[in-house]
Amino acid sequence: MTKKVSIIGAGAVGATLAHRVLESGIADVVLLDIFKNIALGKAMDLSDASAVVAHERTIIGTDDYKDIESSDIVVITAGLPRKPGMTRDELISKNAGIIKDVALKVKTHAPKSIIIVVTNPLDVMTYLTYKITGFSKNRVIGMAGLLDGSRFIYLIASALGVPRSSVETYVLGSHGDTMVPLISKTKVDGKPVTEVMDKAKLQAIVKRTCDRGAEIVSLFGSGSAFYSPSAAVFKMIESILKDKKETVAASAYLEGEYGLNDLYIGVPCKIGKDGIEKIVEFDISADEKAALARSAEAIKVLNKLLQ
Ligand code: LAC
Repeated sequence: MTKKVSIIGAGAVGATLAHRVLESGIADVVLLDIFKNIALGKAMDLSDASAVVAHERTIIGTDDYKDIESSDIVVITAGLPRKPGMTRDELISKNAGIIKDVALKVKTHAPKSIIIVVTNPLDVMTYLTYKITGFSKNRVIGMAGLLDGSRFIYLIASALGVPRSSVETYVLGSHGDTMVPLISKTKVDGKPVTEVMDKAKLQAIVKRTCDRGAEIVSLFGSGSAFYSPSAAVFKMIESILKDKKETVAASAYLEGEYGLNDLYIGVPCKIGKDGIEKIVEFDISADEKAALARSAEAIKVLNKLLQ
């Protein structure tokens, strides 16, 4: 049967994701927004491209949650993006209200779906979605680590003049100022990155990776990144629908893994048809473990504000 992916929020991330999913042929798409005409218009425009792109998938634009029924995956992108000078955390009060409403509606209309959350502050909004829906933890996933990792790889590869495909890494922790690029797991052509790049340069790249979202926000003036976030969500969708069981960094609910409990935070996850099928516990350095614990503390402070 044709798979169905519903995307809540027809802004830049939602619409670009719709484009990627639809034209890949992997699923039919529902694009839902409270601004119905925006969803309708973007769905119409994407449909008009189908003949020339040559695919037979369908997309509908709507503001009616009944249309998301029987979705395999629901992606939540709804909410406000940052403005220049803002941190992701400053979005918490506005976006928590939006996420509560959306999560309840997804629970009602697509109770069997796997949810991928994209709205910021990411780890906090994913936790809220998990609490509101009551879905099992494997079926609520936050997208961030894959995006932060992709940014880190791009910057390393550009600095060294090597192919992106020769660089591997994982970025764990919060999708915020305390994110944790795992230097111990960052390799270039199989060699530790610390052997091919000096410390100062690497530190500058780590910092630029952490600030990359804000760098783009400040260039735009309004709105935030969307090509790379939608690409990362698309890869997670593929991993689920094709049951690839790839290990990627994603925000997951922890119950003791990495010594952490009762929060969503970026960790390596094996992703397949059941969502997060396993949290992979890497052997990380003591410094990285401490950085992850600090990141968890920062997330927990925000989680408390939800009550
Ligand atoms: C960013 C937003 C999506 O990192 O959080 O660009």
